[in-house]
Amino acid sequence: MNIESIRGFSRRDFVKGVSAVGAAGVAFWAGGCEQIAQRPMRRNIANLMPSDPIIQTYKAAVAAMKARSPSDPLSWVSQASIHNNHCPHGCWFFLPWHRWYLVYFERICRKLTGDNSFALPYWNWTSHRTVPDVFWDTSSPLYDSTRVITQSDPADPGWVGPATIESILGVTDFFLFASGTPGGPNGNFHRGGSYGMLEGNPHNNIHGWVGGDMATFMSPLDAVFWTPHNMIDCLWVDWSINRGNPNVNDPAWTSQTFTDFFDENGNPVTVTVADAALLPLLDYQFEPCDPQARTPQMSKSQLETFLKAGAPSTLRFTRRLELGTSIRSMVGETASRETKIQVQTFGTLLEASAKSRVVLIADDVEVPHRRDYFVRVFLNKTDASGQTPITDSHYAGSFAFFSDESAMKGPIPMTTQPKAGYLIDVTPALQKLSRTGGLSSGEVAISLVPVPYAHRKATAERLVIGRLELGIAQF
Ligand code: C2O
Repeated sequence: MNIESIRGFSRRDFVKGVSAVGAAGVAFWAGGCEQIAQRPMRRNIANLMPSDPIIQTYKAAVAAMKARSPSDPLSWVSQASIHNNHCPHGCWFFLPWHRWYLVYFERICRKLTGDNSFALPYWNWTSHRTVPDVFWDTSSPLYDSTRVITQSDPADPGWVGPATIESILGVTDFFLFASGTPGGPNGNFHRGGSYGMLEGNPHNNIHGWVGGDMATFMSPLDAVFWTPHNMIDCLWVDWSINRGNPNVNDPAWTSQTFTDFFDENGNPVTVTVADAALLPLLDYQFEPCDPQARTPQMSKSQLETFLKAGAPSTLRFTRRLELGTSIRSMVGETASRETKIQVQTFGTLLEASAKSRVVLIADDVEVPHRRDYFVRVFLNKTDASGQTPITDSHYAGSFAFFSDESAMKGPIPMTTQPKAGYLIDVTPALQKLSRTGGLSSGEVAISLVPVPYAHRKATAERLVIGRLELGIAQF
């Protein structure tokens, strides 16, 4: 398929856009000096005044959707139901599905307001850790009264801080960065879903922490939903386009179609994963969300080739060290799993230049009925508790749950507790400990600490992990 023939985004629309903005509006693609049409700019919401036309259009579009009958595919409830009924999570369709979801939502916003220049703003949680102010005006259609957090609560830097986001963007493998195949690559690294670092940490934590609608699969009922998802999309653009990391090229991924969305006229559409990978070249662009504001090192045509080619996942575990099975602890207890392994097992892997990574694999993790807590991982900190700050040099990462009560209750009640698997790259934390003498005992202990979200106690909740391993991955 040619980039110009992606359904609904023809070169014709492009040319129209160019003549409308005139020569002054033509952008140059960094590194290639190719002229391309000005794609709508998805902007950082923190840079917009409440009176900005982008905010005004967003509010008007949400109000128009809320005013529509629930049976109308363009209504607010229908749009949220698309998510509830079809959203893929904990697998490699997470990124492309949500990209298409946002693209059609954005087109519906344009259609319902007549503002054809509208581009969905994003919430850069790294630079502004509180939910943006425009979502807190109780008289606005952007307000949702079910949120559990308040306007002044900041998201945890362990989920969204610069160091965390940089370490996620620094992962070069798609499965570890995003998420893996539904059954795990080669069916072997987990059995119950496969959350990579972007989905398992910032994405899941933002949902659970905001709480209310956002903690459920009806989360798009809260207008804030679209802005962290746009941030996720911006980070994927940064990872795959600006930094030049390949998406996977498995035909089971690229040729997957989605038939869940409606266009701005309310007609159902069929779209593919392969086209999702190309969309940012054609349909929209981002004000930089990466603090270093990277730009692509390839021309547009090189990028098109690169994105279409993809590459196989490089995640291969050459060694797996079992740390334990059936690990349980109660939320609020300092109890955590401590499993010791010999440091020499890692060989030269702790040198900063090492190509290998040490990945913590938490498999068959029970998804709790109430998702009021998340999990922090510490290395060689066996007295770690919910009070241990993440500035502690032993902190190694976080992960969280995202699921839905209704998925557990029915219409077809699940007979077994849903389970999930998580991959956490602990290499940076191990390297830091090694540099600062924290591994001098010759052993590594892993501690997992369930921590309740702000304004939640989660006292009766427990963390249950079926199997915990360290995998040594060669890249
Ligand atoms: Cu499908 Cu953040 O949700």
